[in-house]
Amino acid sequence: MGSRLAMTRESPVHATSKEMIRQRSVSDTLYSRNFDGLWCRMMDTPAARAACRKPMNLLMAGWKASAVARKLKMPVLKVALGGMLKKPQELRQLALFGAATESIRLAIEEGNHQQGVQLVGQVQGLIDDIPGVAELFLRVMQEAEDQLSRLNALHSATTAPRSNS
Ligand SMILES: Cc1cc2nc3c(=O)[nH]c(=O)nc-3n(C[C@H](O)[C@H](O)[C@H](O)COP(=O)(O)O)c2cc1C
Repeated sequence: MGSRLAMTRESPVHATSKEMIRQRSVSDTLYSRNFDGLWCRMMDTPAARAACRKPMNLLMAGWKASAVARKLKMPVLKVALGGMLKKPQELRQLALFGAATESIRLAIEEGNHQQGVQLVGQVQGLIDDIPGVAELFLRVMQEAEDQLSRLNALHSATTAPRSNS
């Protein structure tokens, strides 16, 4: 549903990224933990392939993450020193995720897929349109009801007693 909601009129995802998602198939994704340190799925683009070729080294991740943190006016030194003393492993993860943040932002907000990386589900291959959220949910509810009726009919047909004639 994340990808489906990203593909609505109200979603702030850039029009270029929405159009790319619309054109992609279920097999046009990559799944890697090298991009932000956790397993995640992203649109298969040259930039995404480069980003998940190997894990980013910690110095580079720390440098990139602190640049993002400064931009967001976060207390970089306090976070880094506090993390180093309390939970060094979590600090590593934080640095990797911080470093990936700018690539995620570029794809979502600016539709930049030369440097940006678009996180998205395989379900992109089933999405062909950009409806409003209200219309989308009416459709989802209708599809659920149709499937329920279909399953009930199937269940009745398979459990009905056989006639002897
Ligand atoms: C616009 C957008 C932003 C996302 N941002 C993140 C993110 O920051 N971190 C993450 O791990 N996954 C992110 N994802 C990926 C989703 O968490 C999820 O793995 C993926 O979309 C598959 O689920 P779905 O089929 O419900 O969309 C994002 C997905 C979309 C569409």
